[in-house]
Amino acid sequence: MRVLIIGSGGREHALCWALSASPLITKLWCAPGNPGTAEVATNVAIEALAIPELVAFAREHAIDLVVPGPEAPLVAGLADALAEAGIRCCGPSAAAARLEGSKSFAREVAAAAGIPIPRWECFSNAAEARAFLSRRGAPIVVKADGLAAGKGVVVAETEAEAEAAINAFMEDGSLGEAGRTVLLEERLEGEEISLFALCDGEHAVFLGAAQDHKRAHEGDTGPNTGGMGAYSPPARFSPALTDLAMGSIVRPALAEMVRRGTPFRGVLFAGLILTEEGPKLLEFNVRFGDPECQALMLRLHSDLLPGLLAACDQELGAFDLRLRNTASIAVVMAARGYPGTPVRGGVIEGLAEAAKVPGVQIFHAGTAWREGKLIANGGRVLNVCAEAANLQAAREAAYRAIRMIRWEDGFYRADIGWRALAAEA
Ligand code: GLY
Repeated sequence: MRVLIIGSGGREHALCWALSASPLITKLWCAPGNPGTAEVATNVAIEALAIPELVAFAREHAIDLVVPGPEAPLVAGLADALAEAGIRCCGPSAAAARLEGSKSFAREVAAAAGIPIPRWECFSNAAEARAFLSRRGAPIVVKADGLAAGKGVVVAETEAEAEAAINAFMEDGSLGEAGRTVLLEERLEGEEISLFALCDGEHAVFLGAAQDHKRAHEGDTGPNTGGMGAYSPPARFSPALTDLAMGSIVRPALAEMVRRGTPFRGVLFAGLILTEEGPKLLEFNVRFGDPECQALMLRLHSDLLPGLLAACDQELGAFDLRLRNTASIAVVMAARGYPGTPVRGGVIEGLAEAAKVPGVQIFHAGTAWREGKLIANGGRVLNVCAEAANLQAAREAAYRAIRMIRWEDGFYRADIGWRALAAEA
């Protein structure tokens, strides 16, 4: 099989690493990729949103399967353009990618499918949003309707905070068109879990679950980020809860998408909250999470490639994907300044030694080569990951490897997995 992965982050390096181990692979490309993907695939200098160029490349190189990492090309119609060219893509059509591209659409689908969700209201008029806020009060969650690169959700403790978010999103246009419509949602209490399912339109296969750490600093403090680390499996996410979430959230959503004539194919990421009333859906994403994917790929026992093909060919009905009964962790090393403006250009050393720690895999995200030296070239720069028999051992291995990496401008959270360890204790 000739496979093209789209994207340039740690998630895409982890996907390249997992797929490069498949005996079915004859050639693997990554567009545009990063220095880490170049170790296991051939990088192609085409950006993830350059849809005509990606389709032309896939045609010219007789690609059998395209695997998009990020959501933006899917929302922009990459899978549709590839389908027109007769090329398999393990990702949803633009119509189905609206599950991530529009939060109000996802809420409508969830409501029609009877999926448990927080109470919500949608506004495209700021004065009406403010009036609802003054009736309802805080705490409340303000969500931009469109894609906002992780910046579109404010969990407001006070009415003033919520009003500031409404004004910034809807009137000041701080998120562009993505924030002109907002949702005001009930804030639920509970642990948040990322659940992944591989879907072929009709059938869904559980791909694993992880817990992300969204805040920049220890103890879940500081600004929101794209994710500073993840571990799998999450504490308190039992097989019974998995079955409940697959049966009450993922499968009803697929059935509703079929009913609407826009079946969902690809990786469905259900952002769940475990409330006292059971799991509820906070959001759908139409791709793997980053850094959750990195943690999941370490535990994956099955060859991922046949699963992705089965999702494209509507053959998941009789399919099974296995994860090892181990624990894994992904710790993000970010550049000082992230999630604001990161310091770029700092030299990174010691990766080869760090990667020799048993159980450790290091995935690149925002790195680049300059004059023969590896440098930081983004906000989230490296993912130091480990798999072991239990979370404590995986954590020790990952942090041991981190301490061997020399990079002056880097920072990381030293408490990834703290909820699970606290639960065990
Ligand atoms: N880590 C969260 C996300 O990928 O959206």
